[in-house]
Amino acid sequence: MTPIPILLDCDPGHDDAIALLLALASPEVELRGVTTVAGNQTLEKTTANALRVLELMGREDVEVAAGADRPLVREPFVAAYVHGETGLDGSDLRPARGAPVAQHAVDFLAERVAGITLVATGPLTNVALLLARHEERPERIVLMGGAIAEGNVTPAAEFNVWADPEAAKRVFAGGLDLTMVGLDVTHKALVRAEHKERLRAAGRVGRTVAELLDFYDRFHREVYGFDGSPIHDAVALAYAFRPDLLETRELNVEVDTTSDLCRGRTVVDVWRRTGREANARVAVGINSSAFVELLVERIGSL
Ligand code: BDR
Ligand code: CA
Repeated sequence: MTPIPILLDCDPGHDDAIALLLALASPEVELRGVTTVAGNQTLEKTTANALRVLELMGREDVEVAAGADRPLVREPFVAAYVHGETGLDGSDLRPARGAPVAQHAVDFLAERVAGITLVATGPLTNVALLLARHEERPERIVLMGGAIAEGNVTPAAEFNVWADPEAAKRVFAGGLDLTMVGLDVTHKALVRAEHKERLRAAGRVGRTVAELLDFYDRFHREVYGFDGSPIHDAVALAYAFRPDLLETRELNVEVDTTSDLCRGRTVVDVWRRTGREANARVAVGINSSAFVELLVERIGSL
């Protein structure tokens, strides 16, 4: 088996951190680097969190490059109400000892992105800047963001697309091989108490993830009444090497950047009403039990 080369552009964030751990735990993946963006927390905190997760794993060999510290146009907005003040509240992860490389994430990506799967699990600011400033393109992008018929930050929009809608609009218009993994599928695959207890019993890393989930679960219980948490970003990461986990359709997706009410809504032309060309592979179904089992088994093995 030849591992799939992957770059992860992220804003850790509980589910980003778990996606990163899934990449490190999976022999199908060769992680070629991590880039960070402001989103769930400030860039300083998301970058520190990526380093903290890599250091937990003793994987300081994986380089981290810090990127955009704010959206292209909009005011910065962090999701402390989901991820806490640190962006990874709930665990006792040690503060980062290392530092990001000196290179900006966008230049870091440009140097490494050819022939690569870019998994993007934060606002799409770095990716949009890559398209604007460089010729180099990834082989494909798998992004966590958007939704066909749901929102989480507003009734109309998902956080990553809402946070930087102008960036998302450019990425969907970029003529790339793009897969959108949105809330329609991530909300169907919950990591529940029984999975959490398996992780807690599995060892040091599993215990850390269970503690993170104890914190993360509160938001999903209070807001949605969920009996567990969706690990949004890990679904996108898993799809990169296990495409059988998701059912997808080739559809047109446009991002609303003009209205206030529907800022960042991904308008997905499910019934092909517009005649516009498909520009994305949109996840419409998930094998939830297979995904959750993969996640628990891999993280538990660390
Ligand atoms: C997405 O927003 C962030 O809060 C999560 O990390 C995930 O990437 C879910 O809407
Ligand atoms: Ca994220």
